[in-house]
Amino acid sequence: MSATSKYAEIYGAWQKDPQAFWEQAAADIDWFKPADKVFDPDMDIYGRWYVGATCNTCYNAVDRHVDNGRAEQPALIHESAYSGKKTIWTYAQLRDEVRALAATYRDLGISKGDRVLIYMPMVPEAVAAMLASARLGAIHTVVFGGFAASELATRINDCEPKLIVAASCGVEPNRIVEYKPLVDKAIDISDHKPAHCLYLQRDEHICDLSAERDLDYNELVSAHREAKTPIPCEEVAATDPLYILYTSGTTGQPKGVVRDNGGHMVAMKWSMEAVYGIKPGEVFWAASDVGWVVGHSYICYAPLLHGATTLMFEGKPVGTPDAGAFWRVIQDYKVAALFTAPTAIRAVKKEDSRGAHIGNYDISSLRTLFLAGERADSDTIEWAAKALNVPVIDHWWQTETGWAMVSNPIGLGALPLKIGSPTVAMPGYDIRVLDDAGHEVAAGTLGNIAVKLPLPPGCMPSLWNAEQRFREAYLNEFSGYYKTSDAGYMDEDGYLFIMARTDDIINVAGHRLSTGAMEEIIGRHPDVAECAVIGIADPLKGQVPVGFLITNTGTERSDSEIEADVIQMVRDEIGPVAAFKTALTVPRLPKTRSGKILRATIQKIADGEAWKMPATIEDPSVLEEITEILEKRKIGSFD
Ligand code: COA
Ligand code: AMP
Repeated sequence: MSATSKYAEIYGAWQKDPQAFWEQAAADIDWFKPADKVFDPDMDIYGRWYVGATCNTCYNAVDRHVDNGRAEQPALIHESAYSGKKTIWTYAQLRDEVRALAATYRDLGISKGDRVLIYMPMVPEAVAAMLASARLGAIHTVVFGGFAASELATRINDCEPKLIVAASCGVEPNRIVEYKPLVDKAIDISDHKPAHCLYLQRDEHICDLSAERDLDYNELVSAHREAKTPIPCEEVAATDPLYILYTSGTTGQPKGVVRDNGGHMVAMKWSMEAVYGIKPGEVFWAASDVGWVVGHSYICYAPLLHGATTLMFEGKPVGTPDAGAFWRVIQDYKVAALFTAPTAIRAVKKEDSRGAHIGNYDISSLRTLFLAGERADSDTIEWAAKALNVPVIDHWWQTETGWAMVSNPIGLGALPLKIGSPTVAMPGYDIRVLDDAGHEVAAGTLGNIAVKLPLPPGCMPSLWNAEQRFREAYLNEFSGYYKTSDAGYMDEDGYLFIMARTDDIINVAGHRLSTGAMEEIIGRHPDVAECAVIGIADPLKGQVPVGFLITNTGTERSDSEIEADVIQMVRDEIGPVAAFKTALTVPRLPKTRSGKILRATIQKIADGEAWKMPATIEDPSVLEEITEILEKRKIGSFD
């Protein structure tokens, strides 16, 4: 390890006295009342952080910067690659917008503990909508715009929002995505009915707001903007929920990851300097979407809690208009650090492998590129490091943790890179690799990656209204540990290598999706007798889902018709983000003698990886049939 990095010292200090470590970090947050106990091991499922403390996340992210000399500093920069529209809100302007929106929420009956569902594209008002909820002590749940109405309905039913805040539309390169029909359909099919829907009308599409529950964002908010209606920041317990963020589980029912107020603020603030090496006042750009955890943590909360400037870009790394878009934005706004998913860099590299666009811009402000959300392949890391001439830092975390479990902490002094590893455990995380019986394995040996309890501040304390599911999904398998459902190994230097998921989750263009959920949908097709969905390697998106179907005998419809149907069903029910574009009809699926489908073997064949005939296979000839079909249809490594 580098002699100049403070990592070993800081990690050691945390190991020696975790409570003292997190007590000191908490000093960077303004509390109404400090904690009685930094950590109470007996509270709730595995203990809670900052018990007895009261605080407000919006106050710390917005108002305190206005009060402490940052009123005129840009808080949020927004640019839409589609309309060319640019917005810069200073901290004072952000405070004004959030306050006016919070006053609107209050008029609509929202108060502490109520849920507000936010279904918005990458517009600055999406961040204001999150912060206005935090201001009142309400609980927001943001739903990604690429999800379909039924996914929205599942979330409405689970968290029962009083209010939905949406926009009239999102913009994708090939289409305008009208949100209102999706919201209306979701409310139609859900049992819970929100009292109101507040729509931000965008120039790209104006929606009809004649129904009684539908309201116009600008009309209502502008009245409070003008009146400067005072709305104080509500005092909430540090342990009260700030938000719920749904993420794919192993069944169709997504998991509602809960984030608290106090621990989350401490972890976010600490990470900005230690992990990302960002100083207050600098520009931080997370090129993700507010609908994902990266957007929650590093577009909205962390940069603002830190007094930095956050950048929101509505556009893609390529095609809006070209593969130079990221570098132009870095130049125009003097971005100090960019955080994105490896797939975005692969998309740029595919279009501009020689990095010709980079030379057209002055990107000298950029110090570091951070990657997360999926495995970062060495080609992508090496290409980006060479083309941009900055360190490329892979780091590993999950929706459940909210911030990096394993990283190379730039702010503490970078450690030597080992390509293929996101580097080492961050303070707060005691990472172990376990065999299936829960025993630690030797360095270099593949196993289940687990975190010794308790999880640090910022990580989820439970799932929304699903304590038993939380225990079953994360805690029961390895007693005393949080199961990450990632597999990998740790080397002698403590560097972690993430190799695969141990469940049915796949990562498509950095988006986390459940193949089980897709199988549930496909299985509902009247002509499908059985199906399996697997994620196969894709040079751009990392993985893409492929469905294998057995159709009912005697069906009158052709294979290609049924394949087209199931592709449409997944798009309609999960949404375009599932990127489910390939379904293959097969005569049989390979199974063990006990009837389990051998998904991993199909995946290895499709990916062109070495594979062994499973000893328990019922009929080995099925694999020959599958191989022939993959070859004929030019799927995966047969393309
Ligand atoms: N609203 C509606 N539809 C959306 C959407 C949104 N917010 N985001 C994506 N979609 C749609 C896309 O239009 C596409 O639809 P199509 O099938 O009609 O073409 C589909 O969902 C799949 O989207 P995606 O997987 O993102 O593919 P893409 O071809 O549009 O873009 C990349 C590929 C690599 C450019 C893009 O995924 C990207 O920029 N990724 C950056 C990484 C990232 O944001 N990761 C998030 C976690 S950090
Ligand atoms: P999400 O909850 O959407 O952030 O997805 C979390 C999952 O993405 C993890 O459990 C991993 O499987 C994968 N993932 C995230 N970051 C990395 C990384 N740096 N390397 C490998 N896999 C990653």
